Formats: sequence, structure tokens, C-alpha cells
Amino acid sequence: MALSASLAQKMIDNQTTAVLWFDPQLHLQAINPAGENLLKLSINQVHNIQVQNLFPDCEYFAHLGDLTQPHPVIEHGLRLNLYNGHSLMVDCSITPVRRNSKAAIEGFVMEMVNVDQQLRLSREENLILQRQAAQNVLRGLAHEIKNPLGGLRGAAQLLARELPQQQREYTDIIIGEADRLQTLLDRMLGPRTPPHKELLNVHRVLCRIRQLVESEVGSSIVVNTDFDPSIPDIFVDPDQLHQALLNIARNAVQAMQNRGVLCLRTRVERRVVMHNRQYKMALRMDVQDNGPGISEDLLEQIFYPMVTGRAEGTGLGLSIAQTLINQNDGLISCSSKPGQTVFSIWFPLYKKVQPSIEPAGRASRQASS
Ligand SMILES: Nc1ncnc2c1ncn2[C@@H]1O[C@H](COP(=O)(O)OP(=O)(O)OP(=O)(O)O)[C@@H](O)[C@H]1O
Ligand SMILES: [Mg+2]
Repeated sequence: MALSASLAQKMIDNQTTAVLWFDPQLHLQAINPAGENLLKLSINQVHNIQVQNLFPDCEYFAHLGDLTQPHPVIEHGLRLNLYNGHSLMVDCSITPVRRNSKAAIEGFVMEMVNVDQQLRLSREENLILQRQAAQNVLRGLAHEIKNPLGGLRGAAQLLARELPQQQREYTDIIIGEADRLQTLLDRMLGPRTPPHKELLNVHRVLCRIRQLVESEVGSSIVVNTDFDPSIPDIFVDPDQLHQALLNIARNAVQAMQNRGVLCLRTRVERRVVMHNRQYKMALRMDVQDNGPGISEDLLEQIFYPMVTGRAEGTGLGLSIAQTLINQNDGLISCSSKPGQTVFSIWFPLYKKVQPSIEPAGRASRQASS
């Protein structure tokens, strides 16, 4: 049974991989929504553009016109410098299309999958495993310290009872320091309750974080929101997500030294690999600030416990945030340069994304007002 042109068009539009259609002279004729999303452009901007102008400096496309065989030519790990200044790495397959083996080529279909994101996420997964091992050692140690510490505190309390009020200065110090250590160890042991997951509107949580930050620091920090309103509910523990986001947002506020712009953003991403599973759709949440950034050395270890760049920091906020996010089946990653630090969090999306009435950018500005 032959497919109607409109049905074929619909199928291509619904593909989660990027599909581009070129005429025989390699001028771009069509691109599906996933392609526009990946290349961060719209067909109106690039219709009829020659392939080499679309992907400047990419030798690979110079000889496409010589393609004669009917089967796809696949190139893995192709680095593309895009027409609009972006750069990304893709797996790319190109198939010349003809009506039959003797007919002339009528065009080329190009399919692209973003591997940059997959490489980055699988690197994150490896780091998580390493961190988990380190965290287990720390947890064991913290556990071992807690018991004798309880004994020390109890003994100091007994001793204090034997002493008149004015001679309790030293026992009070022991009790106070034991309490401080106890709080630190509790944080080091990390979240111990399993997540109580429920369907949750992520934008509601982010709006609460915005309110909290604003109430803590006043108007010296501007908090912008840039939401994609089409994002369906996610299945996570609300309190744990709240805690994780708050730790990240508070770090941003501290880094900006109470002056700057914090942006809370949501987007849908396609074909995301998390915890060795590929999800058709995922939510990406960004917490972005325009503070001084994180040095490369610190960035490498930022999710390890007890790693801090602040004199008064304990270095536990991000390690706790990561544990909370992982145990809710999410992933967290950070990228940073001076003037821009972004913590991104992904969660799987199981429900269908509702088509938004307006493009994400315009709708989000509404959501933020
Ligand atoms: N947005 C950011 N911009 C710059 N540096 C950051 C940012 N977020 C985190 N950092 C750095 O990462 C370090 C680790 O953060 P983390 O939250 O784990 O610990 P902390 O803030 O030092 O202590 P606490 O346990 O009180 O949260 C911070 O000390 C800071 O140097
Ligand atoms: Mg912190």
C-alpha cells in the first residue's frame, strides 16, 4: 500500500531524530521539528541554503554530490559547526533518493542524532558510580564516628549534672561541639528516606524556589523564569526535588554574592540516555546564574562530598542534591564559564508532551510574569 504524501510528511514530523531533505543540488528543502530543535534554527531561515553553507568548515559534505549508491552512508561522531555559530557532534546518515535504481537522484535524506549529549551524559553516569563508591566510604566512616560521639556527649551531660552551674563552661563546649559534629555527620550520611514519588507540576516547584530565593535575598537578585508550558507532570518526590533545587539555587546566590541574575528554565529533550536507559522524552531543568563561574579543578569534583570553595561551606549541598536527584531516576550535570554557570537536571517524561499554543520562548515569558 502506497503512503500518501501527507501521511509520510506527518510521520517525518513526528520522528524524534532530525531529518533534513535536500534537492539533487544539495539545497535544503525541508527539515522536521526535531531537526529544527537540534540545529537551533527554523526552515524559514535556511530554506534553499546549500549544504556547505549550512555546515561550514565540514569537509564531509563537500563530496556528497558524488554519492550514487542507493543505501545510506553513515558517519559517526561528525563535528558540525553550524551556520548560526553553534557546534555539535552527531551521528549522520545520508541516503540518496531515486524512484528506481536507474532513475536520476531526486534528493538526499539526511538523518542526524546528537551524540554530544549522549557522550556527556554517559560520562556523568561513570562519574556518578565513582562518586557513589567514595560516598559509601564516607558514609561508613560517618556511621562509625556517630556512636562514640553519642557516648562522649552523654558522658559530658552526666558530668555537667555533677557540677555547679558556674563550672559547666567546658562541658557545655563538649556538648555544643558534639551537636555540631552530629549535624554535620547527619548531612554526610545524606538523605536516607526512600522517595515518595507522585505526579508533580515542575513549574510549581520552581515558582516556590523563586519565591524563597526572592524572600531570602530581596531585590538584589533578579530571578527570571523561562518555562516550556507544554511539559507534562514528572514522577518524583516533591520534597526531595525541592531540597535539591534549593541547594543549587542557594549556591548560585552565594556565588553571585547576593547580586546578579538567576534563571530557572525548563525544556523538553528527546532521546535522552539516563541510568543506561534511553528515554524518548526527558525534562531538562536549568538553574543558571551570571556569577563568577567555577574553576575547572573544582568543577571536576563538585558533586563529591566535602568539596567546597567557600570558607564557611561544608561541601555537602551538591552531593546531597545529586543523591536526591539520582534516587528519583534523574541526572544532574554542571557546566560553567566566567559569567555563566548552569546546573542542568534531567527527569524522564512518561506522559505525552502537549503541543504548546505558542513557541516556547514567547510562552515562557508569559509564565514568568
Ligand atoms: N553556582 C555556582 N557558582 C560558583 N560556584 C559554585 C556554584 N555552585 C557551587 N559552587 C561551588 O561549589 C562548592 C560546593 O557546593 P556545595 O553546595 O556542595 O557546598 P557548599 O555550598 O560549599 O556548602 P554547603 O554544604 O553549605 O552547601 C561551593 O563551595 C562553591 O565553591
Ligand atoms: Mg551549598
